[in-house]
Amino acid sequence: MNYKTDVLIIGSGIAGLFAALKISDYAEVILITKKDKTESNTNYAQGGIASVIDINDSFEKHIEDTLIAGAGLCHREAVEMMVKEGPERIKDLIGIGTKFTERNGKFDLVKEGGHSHSRILHAKDLTGQEIERALINSVNLKSNILILENFTAIDFLTEHNLKKNKNSDIENKNCYGVYALNSQTNEVIKIESKATLLASGGLGQVYLHTTNPKIATGDGFAMAYRAGVKIANMEFIQFHPTSLYGSSSLPEFESRSFLISEAVRGFGGILRTKDGNTFMEKYDSRKELAPRDIVARAIDNELKKRGDEFIYLDITFKNSSEIIERFPNIYNTCKRIGIDITKEFIPVVPSAHYACGGVLVDKDAKTSLNGLYACGEVTMTGVHGANRLASNSLLEAIVYSHKAAKSIKEFIKENKNDFLEIPDWDDSGTLTHDEKILVTHTIKEVKHTMWDYVGIVRSKQRLERAKTRVSNLYKENESLYKKTKIYNDILEARNLIACAHMIIKCAEMRKESRGLHYIIDYPESDPDYLSDTIIQNQKF
Ligand code: FAD
Ligand code: SIN
Repeated sequence: MNYKTDVLIIGSGIAGLFAALKISDYAEVILITKKDKTESNTNYAQGGIASVIDINDSFEKHIEDTLIAGAGLCHREAVEMMVKEGPERIKDLIGIGTKFTERNGKFDLVKEGGHSHSRILHAKDLTGQEIERALINSVNLKSNILILENFTAIDFLTEHNLKKNKNSDIENKNCYGVYALNSQTNEVIKIESKATLLASGGLGQVYLHTTNPKIATGDGFAMAYRAGVKIANMEFIQFHPTSLYGSSSLPEFESRSFLISEAVRGFGGILRTKDGNTFMEKYDSRKELAPRDIVARAIDNELKKRGDEFIYLDITFKNSSEIIERFPNIYNTCKRIGIDITKEFIPVVPSAHYACGGVLVDKDAKTSLNGLYACGEVTMTGVHGANRLASNSLLEAIVYSHKAAKSIKEFIKENKNDFLEIPDWDDSGTLTHDEKILVTHTIKEVKHTMWDYVGIVRSKQRLERAKTRVSNLYKENESLYKKTKIYNDILEARNLIACAHMIIKCAEMRKESRGLHYIIDYPESDPDYLSDTIIQNQKF
């Protein structure tokens, strides 16, 4: 069954749901989401959401902290907009019933790495789950929002789908919706829309070890790239310094690592090598609370030097009941693998966590394809530069979702075009795949290649090796894709390969080390190279 709607939203994390609520004030919305509607990076966010709430804090300080973490690449106007509009959007979240933790009648504002002031609002260590709960409750009350679960967007509908316009330039193209796979019936449908909002989240699953859930296969980045949309700064992959070593023994952490929130270091947590010694003082005067790129690289260096598999995070010296009260989720999960964090050190390792780059959008959340808007982790807004400041992601998502909702309202008013006659999905001549194991292996190979060669520390030689491997996987997978009936894994393999390609491409273009991109052949930052790496549908 095909659908037509005013606005199509792809993704049910904070970015998609927040926008859906705003858009439902003036238009009909269809929101599609790949699995269950709560399954998103948002749902697992722990530390919180940064904003200037305390009267002793200031916009200037939050702006300055964000710019410092971003290592010279943030777009100042974008940062200013996010920081200054943040408190209003936080009020929106509270207005729909989000309950942030309070202490003595005030919000319990805490600190994380790179913040000069305590400004993180949180709901214990389950902030994302609380935000997602409040958003879904509110969306469920809106009769003009239709949520379709288990629908995976495959590709955008553009003039490209019309034979006569196949080769038209991006400047002459528009987005008219998507083809999507109903993964319960295996039917591919067409959803046509006057405007489309991409809010499909991150790509952590490109890496072998990641804090991101299974849905984070970078579909939105890949769809945009295939449609010729501009993408930027894909080399800046943030590795979170502290994910729980050994969490994979728990069934729900088979494909993602359990995060030990940066808020634990904000609470006083100390990093120690396996022999119990501290080491962060050798790397940065801010020690455990230095920005993430610095802490993750320091840990990586210590692990490589010592041949160890993990380092420790220690909070045993803090009051036990305070630890349990503040971090119930972390306490209980560690307990399940036999670690009592009030008495024992926590073994941790860095894991891929966040994509700072993505689909290039302007301050109104508009992409380079007419009719396509984007917000949340899939975007490059200019806010994060070469390294995102902790807890700025949820903030960026709500500020830009709000912008997208406003821009789409104008767009729909001005563009009353009828829907084009885009053909239905045609899979005649394709066969059901009877060697699915090939696709499973492809996914594993992408993850290993990216982890081994495009990780925290890079080199020209490693990037070259990764490029050759990914290019071969691309050729093999495309040939299968063209002759096979679509199913989720083959789509995801295709998207993971495209993301790997984009990360490698941007990493090769940046001939310097900056923020999260550290390459041993160019170990210094180049002051003359203060620009974004922008790519647009380049060859594999
Ligand atoms: P998501 O929340 O990931 O939502 C994406 C949605 O798109 C999902 O519903 C998914 O199913 C859907 N989707 C994807 N592909 C398709 C497709 N092809 N078709 C249909 N639907 C699709 N940030 C902070 O600021 N503070 C924190 O404390 C914090 N903690 C974090 C902890 C963890 C463990 C992780 C993983 C991230 C954390 N982050 C944190 C980052 C932050 O949570 C994310 O960047 C943010 O939630 C992204 O929101 P989003 O709406 O853009 O994407
Ligand atoms: C965390 O809780 O450490 C994650 C915070 C973030 O990604 O901003």
